[in-house]
Amino acid sequence: MLNIVLFGPPGAGKGTQAARLVEKYNLVHLSTGDIFRANIKGETELGKLAKQYIDKGELVPDEVTIGMLESEVEKTDHAKGFIFDGFPRTTFQAEALDKFLDDKRTEITIMVALDVDDDELVKRILLRAKDSGRADDADESIIRNRIEVYNRHTAVVADYYAEKNKFKKIDGLGSINEISERLYNAIGA
Ligand code: C5P
Ligand code: MG
Repeated sequence: MLNIVLFGPPGAGKGTQAARLVEKYNLVHLSTGDIFRANIKGETELGKLAKQYIDKGELVPDEVTIGMLESEVEKTDHAKGFIFDGFPRTTFQAEALDKFLDDKRTEITIMVALDVDDDELVKRILLRAKDSGRADDADESIIRNRIEVYNRHTAVVADYYAEKNKFKKIDGLGSINEISERLYNAIGA
């Protein structure tokens, strides 16, 4: 299997590039943010719980997110591999993912990070808010909190994969095509 963690702060372009990688490598895209939002829309119990955190730009508790992600993987038969987008967000989530994949006799192939500076992130997310309909995209203070939470809890997850020689970072500034090419080069295969 080819299992990719697409990493980077909110607004780095993970969702956009994940769609490209799905096409190129024939993978299944799992975006934990998208799954939460589908649950919020469907007014499920999970959605009600997640909304309390997402509206503030905080992280949903690890146990909830890990359980949800694992059940999504279980639902998928015969995948050539997965793109994990927005997960893992903490080292605890990364460890849980490793254990889970190990039980399935597979593993993370590589984490690729999109590098984008904070001011550009805020600009992009405010632009995206016009179409995304996301409350957490429309308010600059919530956006700044999401970036802060990323720097405080999530950025360190890169070290976890770097220690396993599974981490690559690419420049996330440029055209969508340029960035896709950089990702293909980093992933190889
Ligand atoms: O990945 P995305 O930016 O779409 O996530 C939106 C929100 O979903 C995050 O700001 C956070 O509140 C929540 N989330 C989370 N844990 C994850 C992924 C998303 O708490 N692993
Ligand atoms: Mg996304």
